[in-house]
Formats: sequence, C-alpha cells, structure tokens
Amino acid sequence: MEMGLRNRVAIVAGASQGIGRATAEAFAAEGCRVAICARNAASLKAAAEAITKQHGVEVLDQAVDVTDASAVHGFVEAVINKFGSVDICVTNAGGPPAKGFMAASLEDWRKAVDANFLSAVYFAREVIPHMQRKHWGRIITITSITTKQPVTDLVLSNAVRTSVVGLVKSLANEFGKDGILVNNVGPGFTATDRLKQLAKTRAQNSGQKEEEIFAGWAADAPLKRVGEPREVADAIVWLASERASYITGQTLLVDGGAYKGL
Ligand SMILES: NC(=O)c1ccc[n+]([C@@H]2O[C@H](COP(=O)([O-])OP(=O)(O)OC[C@H]3O[C@@H](n4cnc5c(N)ncnc54)[C@H](OP(=O)(O)O)[C@@H]3O)[C@@H](O)[C@H]2O)c1
Repeated sequence: MEMGLRNRVAIVAGASQGIGRATAEAFAAEGCRVAICARNAASLKAAAEAITKQHGVEVLDQAVDVTDASAVHGFVEAVINKFGSVDICVTNAGGPPAKGFMAASLEDWRKAVDANFLSAVYFAREVIPHMQRKHWGRIITITSITTKQPVTDLVLSNAVRTSVVGLVKSLANEFGKDGILVNNVGPGFTATDRLKQLAKTRAQNSGQKEEEIFAGWAADAPLKRVGEPREVADAIVWLASERASYITGQTLLVDGGAYKGL
C-alpha cells in the first residue's frame, strides 16, 4: 500500500526507545524526514544514528523535556529551520507511575498533567500554524487503552489521558477546515521498558513473579499476547498517511482486543 508519506517531515516526541522510537523508525521507513526528542541526549543520539544508518533519511535529534513549553517551542523552531516545515506531529512522553489513588501525591498529579496532557497542548500550539500554511497536517497523540477503560493502579493515567481525547476532538473540529487531521492512538499492553517497569511494581505489590504478571496481561487480550511497539507504530503511520484522509477526531486502540466495551 502506497502511504504517500515520502519527504514528509515527521516529529515524534519521546522517541529514544519504546513506542516512540518504533514510530520514528516506521516513518523513516516510509521515506519521511524525522525529528525526534527525549530528555536523555545520549540515548536519543544513538537512536537517531541507528535510524539514519538503517533508512538513509535525515534525522534531527534534540534533547527536550516535553513538559517545558519553551523547550518544545525551540525544538519545533529547529525542525522548521532544518526541514522548512512540519507535516506530522506525534506527541508522546513516558507514562505516569503505577499507583492507587491514595498513594498518588499532588505532585504526581501535577507531573502527570504536565507530561501527559500539557505536552500535547504545547506541541499543538507550535505545529498548527505551520500546518495551516500548507493546508495539510496530522497530529497524533499517543495515550493508552486507559482512555476507554481504566487499568488497575493506573489512576493517574486513567484520569489524565481522557483530557487528551477532549483536546483531540476539539482540535479535529476546529482545524479540519485547514486540512489538519487530529487523532489519538491508545496502546494496550506493549512490550517496552515501560511495561517491564509496570510488571516490576505489580510483582512487588502482589508477591507474583514478573512472568506471571506478563502472562496475565497476555491472557486478558483476545490475541493472547502483549503487543509489539512496531504494531502501534504501524497504526500511527497509517493514520498519518494519505490512506486515512477522511479520519479525524478518533481514538484507535492498538490493544489486541483487550478493551472489553462495544
Ligand atoms: N508500553 C505499554 O504497555 C503502554 C501501554 C499503554 C500506554 N503506554 C503509553 O505510551 C507511551 C509510550 O510508552 P513506552 O512504553 O514506549 O514508554 P518508554 O519505553 O518509557 O519510553 C518513553 C520515551 O519517552 C521519553 N520521555 C519520557 N518522558 C519525557 C519527557 N518529559 N520529555 C521528553 N521525552 C520523554 C523517554 O526518553 P527520556 O527518558 O530520555 O526522556 C523515552 O524515549 C507512554 O505514555 C505510556 O504510558 C504504554
């Protein structure tokens, strides 16, 4: 299937590892020019070099904390200076810690709002004017299955992620006339470092082994396994492509069927 993405400029935030990195690789494989950020400059640089080596595309890497609005501004400015435009923006950051409600401090709540909601606001504010000028754009937020179905001990994610869905729907309504499509992708349990960390916390709290926690997650999905980062990335690339040109304001779960609702 021809995706029509060659030479498009794609920003992927939180892209030194996990789902973000797989997404940057998938855009590079489609011939996009890619701009990636994360906080740790060394692991980000290593990711950028690996992507360039494998796909032969230009990659801009910049150490950015996406909770810092001025750093996001500087990053998007650097992307425009290097590539001349931005066509696709995938917002992403690490997930909030696994905690029950009374264990979560007010500081935890503020951090979750900063990383998992306001970061998407910061990117949208920066990229929309550039997309309006071209009358073409794609904004895709990476959130979680928690936008549809709460996950035990992830109260921070369960509560904060839904605000991103409200943002996505609002942006889709307001900027559809400018050719900008805005969608949300919610991964289910996906085999990344983040998931290993979650398994560790659950194991400590429950006395189960980490392998048993993983087996439980796999058993809960109709496909009987956890997902791979590449599988989430492929859904994001498709949503960004010309093949998904009449889809906006939607949440697409990539969860092996784990969401139990209709
Ligand atoms: N994996 C799953 O099973 C799963 C399921 C549902 C939802 N999700 C959500 O999907 C997203 C990605 O998950 P993942 O498993 O790929 O996570 P991950 O393996 O922890 O990777 C997170 C990436 O984001 C970067 N990052 C974290 N905080 C950042 C910040 N403040 N500013 C800039 N970059 C930041 C990290 O690099 P630095 O640390 O160097 O900044 C890293 O590159 C998360 O929001 C997660 O909660 C994951």
